[in-house]
Amino acid sequence: SIIRTMARGAFIVLEGLDRAGKSTQVSMIVEALKERNVPVERRVFPDRSTAIGGIINDYLAKKIELAPEAVHLLFSANRWECKDGILETLEKGTTLIVDRYAASGAAYSAATTGRPLSWCTSPDQGLPAPDLVLYLDVTPDTQQQRSNWGEERFERAETQRKVAENFRKLSESGNWAFVEAGLDKLEVHQKLLQKVLDLLEGCKDKPIGKLYE
Ligand code: TMP
Ligand code: MG
Repeated sequence: SIIRTMARGAFIVLEGLDRAGKSTQVSMIVEALKERNVPVERRVFPDRSTAIGGIINDYLAKKIELAPEAVHLLFSANRWECKDGILETLEKGTTLIVDRYAASGAAYSAATTGRPLSWCTSPDQGLPAPDLVLYLDVTPDTQQQRSNWGEERFERAETQRKVAENFRKLSESGNWAFVEAGLDKLEVHQKLLQKVLDLLEGCKDKPIGKLYE
């Protein structure tokens, strides 16, 4: 058997609707961990820098049309193409703070394809599982007040309402924490950081889980 000589990093995902403030909060968590000398990297899904991510970007920007089921599989493929990179990062002891992941995949596609959540989670089965999902809970009013609302596909009140309902169902399995997103951004940050710091020690000796297994 392999002797683990180094603690692994934690796999932490921020989830939520569009304009919940995830990207801002990911940056703030990464900076706070760096200040504490915790090795940390960020990632974002969709990862628009890959070939698959380029197609997803064109679809979201409404430059191309695709069947929603095909887009669903591209979002999942975009995670699978990053799987080895994620595992390597965690195994070298670096914590990952990730802006969206598989829960977004299932929550959005169940809303846009009308297919059951179980259909939507299945392509992601076996991917590395997050140790913690931090859910930024945003109200429709707050979303619509924030900049550039409505530009990309899916940024419609009715879609977002369905997506929110799906996120609630998904949060029933796995380790999720909900934080109110409409608070002052420093207040949100402090709540999130506390949850991250509470987790960090605890997951060092646990193997990385697999999603939906
Ligand atoms: P972003 O706003 O975080 O850049 O994400 C782009 C959009 O893509 C957003 O509306 C959420 C959606 N999305 C999916 O539909 N499936 C997925 O797997 C991911 C990661 C995002
Ligand atoms: Mg968005």
